[in-house]
Amino acid sequence: METVDCLILGGGAAGLFCGARTAARGRDTLILEKSGKPAEKVRISGGGRCNFTNIRTDHKNFLSGNKHFAKSALARYKPDDFCQLMQKHQLSWTEKTLGQLFCDQKSGAIIKMLLDEVEEAGAELRLNSDITDVRRERGMYFVTVGNETIAASSLVVATGGLSIPKMGATGLAYEIARKFGHEVIAPRPALVPFAFTGLAQEQFAALSGISVDVEARAKCGPAFRENLLFTHRGLSGPSILQVSSYWKEGESVQIDLFPQGNELSKLKEMREIYPARTLQVALSAIFPGRLVGLLSDALPELFKKPIGQISNADFVKLESQLKHWRVKPAGTEGWRTAEVTAGGIDTNALSSKTMESKHQAGLYFIGECVDVTGWLGGYNFQWAWASAAAAAKVA
Ligand code: FDA
Repeated sequence: METVDCLILGGGAAGLFCGARTAARGRDTLILEKSGKPAEKVRISGGGRCNFTNIRTDHKNFLSGNKHFAKSALARYKPDDFCQLMQKHQLSWTEKTLGQLFCDQKSGAIIKMLLDEVEEAGAELRLNSDITDVRRERGMYFVTVGNETIAASSLVVATGGLSIPKMGATGLAYEIARKFGHEVIAPRPALVPFAFTGLAQEQFAALSGISVDVEARAKCGPAFRENLLFTHRGLSGPSILQVSSYWKEGESVQIDLFPQGNELSKLKEMREIYPARTLQVALSAIFPGRLVGLLSDALPELFKKPIGQISNADFVKLESQLKHWRVKPAGTEGWRTAEVTAGGIDTNALSSKTMESKHQAGLYFIGECVDVTGWLGGYNFQWAWASAAAAAKVA
């Protein structure tokens, strides 16, 4: 029977990164990947340019049943550490908005870097490995792949979450966790567009492609000031994806369409200069025209009036409506388009320093399968690197 020191399940971001580091410590390491291509989510990430980290990373940018769990790993492997690795491989990056770093050489270059690290450290990556059984006997882990069984003293589970099933996402990590006595917090699609039905869907579809600056929030969760995008099915764009991670079925989402705070004064200035303009025309200086059409449905009597005839009290009414626009999604687009999985393996039974199971010595869970979910903007990869680095110190 083949025996290795460290067996890693999943050759995605976390698995490859962890394997390179355990092998660099001298551990005989084998990475098993189900598909024929490793790290496919890295390839499609960040629109093909992989938003590989965020320089503002803080544990507050993550959702988890235990808000403090991610602190330790994030403190010991920082965005700058990954940037240094990129530099070692002659890769460069550009900061877009909000601390998000994107690879200048595109995401394929990051995959190559990870594979080069794996090879340089002497770890083996085995593709097309369909795992059919995992068991533990006499302190060793036994993993069955086809007709073969591989034994290892350390088993690192890095098979990710359930998002994008057509890319081969499986629930293997949750199955293994449950088998070894771990709780799994119900996985749910996160960083995912909202879908609407009926009139709202028709109205949003008519605005499809329009993007506006908003501040959006779910009932429980922070406000996100980023763009909102109208789509054929409903709403998307960064602010909506962020909010979706906090949203629960049946809840409304609150959207501030006047996020800058000076929109009302702009309208009042226009009232002085162009009193004969209708509110509809005046608002077209702030919003795309097609969107103004939708907004006018809310206060039709006001929109037809020349702004010179609109009182301050009516302006305040208008501002209040646009700052507190409430929409009720019918649901999300689900696993098909979710960028990540929220929920997952309960952190209560994992060591925050090493990601090791508190139930089974030598068993580790890293990356997206753990109940730690980052905001949009490079945080999820930073969690993949940091949790992998934490486990790799001891696995
Ligand atoms: P990941 O899913 O990457 O890897 C798991 C691996 O395990 C896969 O290779 C899979 O094939 C394999 N596997 C699954 N089941 C298996 C089984 N039964 N046996 C063996 N292998 C198995 N994040 C970010 O920070 N910045 C970004 O720009 C983006 N962009 C982005 C775009 C899109 C479209 C998506 C879907 C996601 C992102 N993300 C992102 C999220 C990011 O991709 C995600 O958080 C990480 O890939 C998670 O890394 P893991 O290694 O944990 O899982």
